Amino acid sequence: MLALDCVLWGASGHAKVLTSLIHLLGGRVSATLDINPDTPPILGARAYYGSDALSLWLDETADPHRYTGVICIGGGRGADRQYAVEKFRAAGLCLNSLIHPQAFVDKTASIGEGSHVLAGAVVGAQACIGSGCIVNHNASIDHESTVADGVHIAPGATVCGLVQIDTSAFIGAGAVILPRLRIGAHAVVGAGAVVTRSVAAHAVVAGNPAKPISK
Ligand SMILES: CC(C)(COP(=O)(O)OP(=O)(O)OC[C@H]1O[C@@H](n2cnc3c(N)ncnc32)[C@H](O)[C@@H]1OP(=O)(O)O)[C@@H](O)C(=O)NCCC(=O)NCCS
Repeated sequence: MLALDCVLWGASGHAKVLTSLIHLLGGRVSATLDINPDTPPILGARAYYGSDALSLWLDETADPHRYTGVICIGGGRGADRQYAVEKFRAAGLCLNSLIHPQAFVDKTASIGEGSHVLAGAVVGAQACIGSGCIVNHNASIDHESTVADGVHIAPGATVCGLVQIDTSAFIGAGAVILPRLRIGAHAVVGAGAVVTRSVAAHAVVAGNPAKPISK
């Protein structure tokens, strides 16, 4: 059950997506926290800026336990998402996982706290998603795959069955990960890649078949 009042960590693009979802789920956005003072506020929410935005909000809030913390950090910034999860947890906010009503999550799958499953996404049988993850629009994660904390599966990506994706990896839009492979921690899989072999931690791969890209 979604608490009524949400506090967003991040107020830019991904926050727009999650604000719509929060409204759809019957919640509201009370406050946004963003490091960048140039980020426009979200209508109806109090905006707090800077690296101490959470502390500023806490100073003015009698009961933080009444609020749901929503991590609105997109892209490949999995470590930042995990940091935000830790900070919200330490401050005592609820960390619901937000699941769009038009997503399908198998009843045998698990979704960690502060993770979001967006419209059209599918999380299959016995798939296990960590905390601070994004399963973006129309992405699918098939049976028994494990997705560690902070991972982002971008729109339309397909993760086949029995895949292991390690912490803070980023799977680009429309990429396909073939069954039983492992994607290492902080690895980046480019948009549209077809991954046919396991990917080392911190590697950046792209293309079909996916290969490391040189800079
Ligand atoms: C893979 C990626 C991270 C590389 O970014 P980058 O490090 O800035 O790399 P560059 O753009 O400098 O490209 C380096 C080379 O790789 C190629 N390349 C980059 N992305 C590619 C992709 N997705 N598929 C195939 N080739 C790609 C470039 O053409 C370039 O080739 P060149 O050296 O022959 O000119 C990025 O291109 C990408 O695909 N990001 C995913 C974006 C996404 O899905 N966002 C979803 C947001 S919700």
